[in-house]
Amino acid sequence: MSKLTELSAWQALEDHYYTMQDRHLRDLFAADPTRGEKMTAEGAGLYLDYSKHRVTDETLKLLLQLAEEAGVAKKRDAMFAGEKINITEKRAVLHTALRAPRDAVIEVDGKNVVPDVHEVLDRMSAFAEQIRAGTWLGHTGKPIKNIVNIGIGGSDLGPVMAYEALKHYAQRDLTVRFVSNVDGTDLAEKTRDLDPAQTLFIVSSKTFTTQETMTNARSARQWLLGSLKDDAAVARHFVAVSTNAAEVTKFGIDTANMFGFWDWVGGRYSMDSAIGLSLMLAIGGDQYRELLAGFHEMDEHFRTAPAEKNLPMLMGLLGIWYNNFFGAESVAVLPYDQYLAYFSAYLQQLDMESNGKHVTLDNEQVDYQTGPIIWGQPGTNGQHAFYQLIHQGTKLIPCDFIGFCQTLNPMPPHHDLLMANVFAQTEALAFGKTLEQVLADGVDAKIAPHRVFEGNRPTSTILADKLTPHTLGALIALYEHKVFVQGAIWDINSFDQWGVELGKVLAGKIAPELQSEGEPELKHDSSTNTLIKRYRARRA
Ligand code: F6P
Repeated sequence: MSKLTELSAWQALEDHYYTMQDRHLRDLFAADPTRGEKMTAEGAGLYLDYSKHRVTDETLKLLLQLAEEAGVAKKRDAMFAGEKINITEKRAVLHTALRAPRDAVIEVDGKNVVPDVHEVLDRMSAFAEQIRAGTWLGHTGKPIKNIVNIGIGGSDLGPVMAYEALKHYAQRDLTVRFVSNVDGTDLAEKTRDLDPAQTLFIVSSKTFTTQETMTNARSARQWLLGSLKDDAAVARHFVAVSTNAAEVTKFGIDTANMFGFWDWVGGRYSMDSAIGLSLMLAIGGDQYRELLAGFHEMDEHFRTAPAEKNLPMLMGLLGIWYNNFFGAESVAVLPYDQYLAYFSAYLQQLDMESNGKHVTLDNEQVDYQTGPIIWGQPGTNGQHAFYQLIHQGTKLIPCDFIGFCQTLNPMPPHHDLLMANVFAQTEALAFGKTLEQVLADGVDAKIAPHRVFEGNRPTSTILADKLTPHTLGALIALYEHKVFVQGAIWDINSFDQWGVELGKVLAGKIAPELQSEGEPELKHDSSTNTLIKRYRARRA
């Protein structure tokens, strides 16, 4: 038995589960009509309603006790203090320093990192001003109109998600695109209608060695030089965001055009570092700082709010309740805002790359479930696709509903209808419709069971007033810290990603094998050998 499952709160929760597994939200709400007002919390402009969860005061007490016994607060403080909690890479985990105010002091190895953070932010702002004002000229003297971020994973998902989310605040005469896939189609389609003389590439890569990004960056350089026909053009049309100055120079980008960050920023936690440069070019330095302020406000809430009112703590613990006691496999994140179209995709990396782990910090194989599968789509589209399974399928899928009280595009009655769907879905999922109610509606008894909604499907509702840079920052930080809480309880390292290595190494080995007809002799398993041979024979 591992340490986690030996904790007294864990064992009490196992017993408690048996008293809760059949309790229905209908009964919980009937027992306490004030539940919907009481089971709420607020922080950094976000309001969380967690009353539609299959919990009682006792459940919450035990979950909070679990957090205490698992040392979550201590681990959180260690992260904020810059301790090297990423033990497999011997690194501090300090994305919170990226949004710390100018006068904060946060030390790594005895050095205050905050001045460096603000020095890069200031350089980014100055560069953004030049691009936005049209004073940064391309090689032929024309202003930049198109920005193409080349990156993948954390060097793509954060910027593309946030750019889409904050498009309302963007300077619309700039075209901003994101190339991530090594499939040449991505680069080809994103550049086909762009004028090279007015295009700036931002090569974003923490390591500057990622195969996909470097391949795309080299092809982008060819595309540019194919038109501008002068190597000197690279200096006006390529900038880099990286921690690896040596590789940036090797690629041919002057480090004067490089925006740095640090090894204590994990890729999936880097969207508010210089990795957010494409976003800053779109929305400007001031709005970008508003985004950082939203992150910081949620950081402070997480750091200081009492556990029972602490949004990331509550969301993390509720997730543990379903993941580890009810056996739920996944979580659906359902933002009711078209601007958040990429939010679930972003969270997939944040959560699944962080907590998809199988050994504890002490190298023990876990004997409990760790990170859930994260998925979702913006409402209302998802309602007409997969909600059927959430309502009437056999799987328990806790859902996060995210909505805003004000729309950025007033067009009555759209927003009221959109939000009516948020409230209707969470109500339907919680309370369902009984056989008696179905029959009372006059439905033929022969088909009535098909019309029954069991209900008791748990949901969180997160409401904010309006989607602003500040709100988005708070929302992202909320999920970052939710992931932290869960990883701390599971006693895993949420900050490495060794699971992506094996495939990378094998792809590096196989790539040259695809080019040669007979040689080298293939030494894989019979399936891989046969597939490679078939591909070799048919590749154009
Ligand atoms: O997918 C693995 C990974 O290392 C991610 O953690 C990271 O965000 C991504 O690759 C891109 O890495 P880089 O920014 O170094 O190109």
